[in-house]
Amino acid sequence: MLRNKRVLLGISAGIAAYKTPLIVRELIKAGAEVQVVMTPSTLDFVTPLTLSTLSKNPVHHQYFDGESGEWNNHVELAKWADIFLIAPATANTIAKMAGGLCDNLLLACYFSMPDPKKVFFAPAMDLDMFKHEQNQQNIQKLQDFGNRLIDAEVGELASGLEGKGRMAEVDNIINALMGDQDGPWLNKRVVVTAGPTFEEIDPVRYIGNYSSGKMGYALAEAFADAGALVTLISGPTHLDSPRTVDIKRIISANEMFEEVKALQDSTDLFIMAAAVADYKPSKRSDQKIKKSEEDLQIKLEANPDILAYVGKNKKEGQFVVGFALETNNELENAKGKLKRKNADAILLNSMNDEGAGFGHDTNKVTLIDKNNNEWTSELKSKKDLAKDIVKRIGELLS
Ligand code: CTP
Repeated sequence: MLRNKRVLLGISAGIAAYKTPLIVRELIKAGAEVQVVMTPSTLDFVTPLTLSTLSKNPVHHQYFDGESGEWNNHVELAKWADIFLIAPATANTIAKMAGGLCDNLLLACYFSMPDPKKVFFAPAMDLDMFKHEQNQQNIQKLQDFGNRLIDAEVGELASGLEGKGRMAEVDNIINALMGDQDGPWLNKRVVVTAGPTFEEIDPVRYIGNYSSGKMGYALAEAFADAGALVTLISGPTHLDSPRTVDIKRIISANEMFEEVKALQDSTDLFIMAAAVADYKPSKRSDQKIKKSEEDLQIKLEANPDILAYVGKNKKEGQFVVGFALETNNELENAKGKLKRKNADAILLNSMNDEGAGFGHDTNKVTLIDKNNNEWTSELKSKKDLAKDIVKRIGELLS
């Protein structure tokens, strides 16, 4: 689940900093990309050389790099990060985070993080410092901001005292970053089809459609964020592939069909968001078709219906979700498709909803399950909607 995730590790000056090279090593082993930012006093506890060697990236601890004079751009670092892990988070750093003080690069990165939910902090300090009402209030405040606490653990402390205040064990930190360990999607195999398919007429022309692929890509990313192992089978789009999914790029419906069939047995959930061309030219011309005075007729033949195939060949425990894009009799048509294609649920897109469907960054859907239960979303960004859909399908499965 950390595969291709960008993790910014912020280290503040506590004795637990000696464990941070291990954190970096585990993150790298899990497939994450790692950059490190340290507070200046942390240099007394762990060296940039160790951390840069393990992370394979330069380590940042000041606004300006002394030798090159280069500026370490905290905004860029914060934007780069999918996760900002602050470990150890000392009482001092926690207090500054809670109080708005920004006197080092780590704190500047913290305040530049666009989404507070991407910040995880692992407190580490002596037991009385940890218990102190002020420190407890600060920790609570960070959680109220949306930051995620990786709670301190009970045990022997550097002072020789026993109690709560030890930084969480490295394994527990890694697990916390991996997300919802109890959620329904952890390590589930999800296949998402997305985008249009292009059906070639000749070497320079094709039949296609206006699908942007945005909804399918957002769904693939949202399932990966929820812990699933996602394969995205995508027709031609202009979108960058989400870093946390395996992408298989195809052109035609037949190529998409082959990729889906290859994954038929190993998949737990299919989400068929692609706008598959229903027909393809019966014969692709090897040469560019020349203009003539007469009308041109192209004979088309049906493409395989991929969703219907997956529905028909469903294995025990598999869940299949289709999309229906409708212009009229929306609910009735969607329910018909659900039944005809033996899907478990269908996501209805109505072309009559403003701001929804093809090309837009927003969407609105109605999810219909096999028992004809309906849930209609609000119009929202495709990325936010994708998160709601992931949650909704999780509920249907359980
Ligand atoms: N679909 C598919 N393979 C096809 C056609 C459609 O897998 N050859 C899937 C789409 O990905 C979507 C669902 O089927 O999940 C509905 O597609 P749609 O084109 O709306 O349905 P059709 O069966 O083609 O019905 P119609 O064109 O008559 O509305």
